[in-house]
Amino acid sequence: MKPKVMVSPGVRDDNPGLLEEKLSDIAEVVYGTFRDPKNIPSDIKDSEAMILALEPINDEVLDNFPKLKIIARYGVGYDTVDVNACTKRGIYVTHTPGILSHAVAELTIGLMLCLSRALIEADRYVRTEWAGPKGSRLKMGIDLYGKTLGIIGLGRIGYEVAVRARSFGMKIIYYDVERKYEAEKTLGAQYVDLETLLRESDFVSIHVPLTPQTRRLIGEKELRMMKPTAYLINTSRGAVVDEEALCRALKEGWIAGAGLDVFVKEPLPLDSPLIGMRNVVLSPHIGTYTVETRRSMALMCIENVRAALMGMVPPNLVPEQRGMVFKRGAFS
Ligand code: GLV
Repeated sequence: MKPKVMVSPGVRDDNPGLLEEKLSDIAEVVYGTFRDPKNIPSDIKDSEAMILALEPINDEVLDNFPKLKIIARYGVGYDTVDVNACTKRGIYVTHTPGILSHAVAELTIGLMLCLSRALIEADRYVRTEWAGPKGSRLKMGIDLYGKTLGIIGLGRIGYEVAVRARSFGMKIIYYDVERKYEAEKTLGAQYVDLETLLRESDFVSIHVPLTPQTRRLIGEKELRMMKPTAYLINTSRGAVVDEEALCRALKEGWIAGAGLDVFVKEPLPLDSPLIGMRNVVLSPHIGTYTVETRRSMALMCIENVRAALMGMVPPNLVPEQRGMVFKRGAFS
């Protein structure tokens, strides 16, 4: 019998037929998902590998999967996976870094342009007002050229955002837990502390992973440091921002607006105050949602799963597991 690989249905929907084409010589692909550890479908419990969207993984969930060798996260962020719990059991955790950075960076720039040129409003205006009798005026935009972009987290994605913003003639400042000397040289990016970044930026863009240290990194105090003309862009994880404080900031004009691809709760509930706000642009967590990038992500997951099922170390282990070798079965 071939080992079973459980795949989130969203991964199949993005890449019809690909999982079967690339895995069925060595594995049986089964589509399934779960949210609640008490309600895991019985036909996936004997899976030896998983390719996962954002299903939560913790000890209670893992108790249901005694044969599991690898969790391949379909994405770069792995805040939904308790890596320690996996390591204790000898289960590899992989993710898909690098190949998706340009897609997230493109969306980030897209959100900035939507805000700077009021593009969503402009579209609505053409459809409903431009040729109408009232002759109302559309809100005038602002240039990106000459503005300061503050990047929080100059990792792979932050770097790609900076490259693109430079080509628009923006000044780049950044804050990170580590200085990025190479990027300072190649991009002319200037390292500043978080407070300076918040006070000086016209656009603040967040590119950090969600960790205990970054949860609610941007709260009321930080939002009040921003200029009233500044915009916040978040394509990382919703919980990096205190969403209630952000709603107050947007309503009371502490900042000019926000471009948000990620939210504390997803899908964003329809009764969220953000839904009714005109100074925000919202997208449904689509940073990596392009044909090319989703295919590359799926192929990377497949490569990791194939390696683990064949008894090798998968190439894209999360940093916490780099250098580790597990032999599940022999291990437990
Ligand atoms: C998307 O959210 C990812 O983690 O890649």
